[in-house]
Amino acid sequence: SNRIMLGPLVAAIDQGTSSTRFLVFNAKTAELLSHHQVEIKQSFPKEGWVEEDPKEILQSVYECMDRTCEKLTQLNIDISNIKAIGVTNQRETTLVWDKETGEPLYNAIVWLDLRTQSTVERLISKTPGRNKNHLKHKTGLPISTYFSAVKLRWLLDNVDEVAEAVVTHRAMFGTVDSWLIWCLTGGKSGGVHCTDVTNASRTMLFNIHTLDWDPELCKYFDIPMEILPKVRSSSEIYGLMTSGSLTGIPISGCLGDQSAALVGQMCFQDGQAKNTYGTGCFLLRNTGAKPVMSDHGLLTTVAYKLGRDKPACYALEGSVAIAGAVVRWLKDNLGIIQTSTELEKLAASVGTSYGCYFVPAFSGLYAPYWEPSARGIICGLTQFTNRSHLAFAALEAVCFQTREILDAMNQDSGIPLTQLQVDGGMTSNRLLMQLQADILCIPVVKPSMPETTALGAAMAAGAAEGVSVWSLRPEDLSEVTSEKFEPQINPEESEFRYARWKKAVQRAMNWET
Ligand code: G3P
Repeated sequence: SNRIMLGPLVAAIDQGTSSTRFLVFNAKTAELLSHHQVEIKQSFPKEGWVEEDPKEILQSVYECMDRTCEKLTQLNIDISNIKAIGVTNQRETTLVWDKETGEPLYNAIVWLDLRTQSTVERLISKTPGRNKNHLKHKTGLPISTYFSAVKLRWLLDNVDEVAEAVVTHRAMFGTVDSWLIWCLTGGKSGGVHCTDVTNASRTMLFNIHTLDWDPELCKYFDIPMEILPKVRSSSEIYGLMTSGSLTGIPISGCLGDQSAALVGQMCFQDGQAKNTYGTGCFLLRNTGAKPVMSDHGLLTTVAYKLGRDKPACYALEGSVAIAGAVVRWLKDNLGIIQTSTELEKLAASVGTSYGCYFVPAFSGLYAPYWEPSARGIICGLTQFTNRSHLAFAALEAVCFQTREILDAMNQDSGIPLTQLQVDGGMTSNRLLMQLQADILCIPVVKPSMPETTALGAAMAAGAAEGVSVWSLRPEDLSEVTSEKFEPQINPEESEFRYARWKKAVQRAMNWET
């Protein structure tokens, strides 16, 4: 048959909070050739708890791979041109499994999970001056329910199987990247137990200066170091696929999803930034070779290290827990919409929230507040308010939260961003993009190919030593064009609404006290 000649292809596994994707790119042009996506179930066994099934996560990866390969074959594209696979993932989500049986010992505790709130409050109360930033000089992070260490502590304290596996030296800890790479490279028969510096930097056990696990931090959380994966760079061959349609292909890229998006958006220069709208919303600004500590509630994190001998690059990050998750909540919990497109239509039909403000603090509030006891509120309701206004308020909430982290970012760096590069699933919502420009009072720029996270992981995989089919030069990404949304309302109007939002946030903050 007429096989299409394209040159090398590079693939990415994008395992996000809400779904898994597998995508295949042309390594010359960055054109997306084919992909497949599968939604991931979340369970909420108790109030504030969020879990996912590690086996379902793994199965979804195989399913997406197989379906994408089928689609490529139908397009007459030879899958043997796939030269490397990158892994990118929801960060912080915590797993422990048995290395002899290969079985997970508990569900994955998702980053959004609040079960460790009391542990976190206890840890903070024991620090000198009740300082949640007590470990920040090493980790770049405040003590919070968000990061892996407290989740792992919970597993060790509450799940007998986990405690037992530690005693018998069978336990392996990992974030989703480690779990997937271990399974895909052979699992119990020789799988590679590793993670990369970006994922490691979200555990709170990792020293972002030395780029290694930190014995003092492990002692602080009482975590046995032997269960930790080996830390590698974000771009090197970790191992080969041992089963499925892509057996023998190297896995050679690994980045937390927000780092991958930064790479995919080509933010390689100090000062460049991107905001990704997924389940949550994450604004990262490249700060170059030096970790910069925030005075305004942002995190300091490893952005990437693209090769064993390459320097690490750092970023300031503003994390918002709930963005796309608010759409899923309106759909699954309130049933006022069936699809996310419907949300855009509803919101557009009114074009205003009519004074309604929705603070979706379902998992407490992240940046810049770091307040685990905050809870969601909807306020400013009148007899006139209907579901369309609520839909609008939900979209506006995503924009206001981004405004808060952008303000913090500008204050920390002293150099305000003049436009915002965006990506992620929600950026297909044009109303949201326009609203975002209106509320930030700066233009919002969106790439034509929204799968920037996967692109970044594919680039890291293709550029790895021993694969070397991707140059990482911005000028080679010929398929990537962009669209710009300019602010359309006057800044006074924007400030007025933002001030109201801030009042609503104050009410959500003091909820439990
Ligand atoms: O820190 C959590 C983040 O990595 C999750 O990303 O895209 O699933 O919202 P996303």
